Amino acid sequence: MNAKDISLKEKEVKPIVDQLNDLLANYHIHYQKLRGCHWNVKGSHFFTLHIKFEELYTNAQQTIDDLAERILTLGKPPHSTFTDYIKVSTIKEINTIGMKDTDMVNAIMDDFSNLIEMEREIMKTTSEAGDDGTNDLINSFMQFKEKNNWMLRSFCGKN
Ligand SMILES: [Fe+2]
Repeated sequence: MNAKDISLKEKEVKPIVDQLNDLLANYHIHYQKLRGCHWNVKGSHFFTLHIKFEELYTNAQQTIDDLAERILTLGKPPHSTFTDYIKVSTIKEINTIGMKDTDMVNAIMDDFSNLIEMEREIMKTTSEAGDDGTNDLINSFMQFKEKNNWMLRSFCGKN
């Protein structure tokens, strides 16, 4: 597909797709981290956090699919191997075995901060390119994490 077909400029779409592919890679590492937290959480908050982590990874899974399909909509292939995800992602894997529950929550909040920062950068690029569709999509991902950052902060008793 040509960017022209959806009234965008090829030259301006290229950097957007590159940024979306970077975000996709980061999201995969984040997703697997959430699954690790869901499986390995222990302690008196097990029932609360086990369910919360499931809610978050279910959302991340949908976000990953939406992101990949937006990349295809813009006419390029999304990264689809873990080799690429690990190579590209700035968010790093962690070992969740034996990790304290509050450390898990803090690790997820760190990922949220990093992902939100990337998304704000993407929204600058999409805004300049007039790509309102991608802008709107990324904005919805960001708002979900902003709200969940508040809830996880509250869980940890932070302001
Ligand atoms: Fe499960």
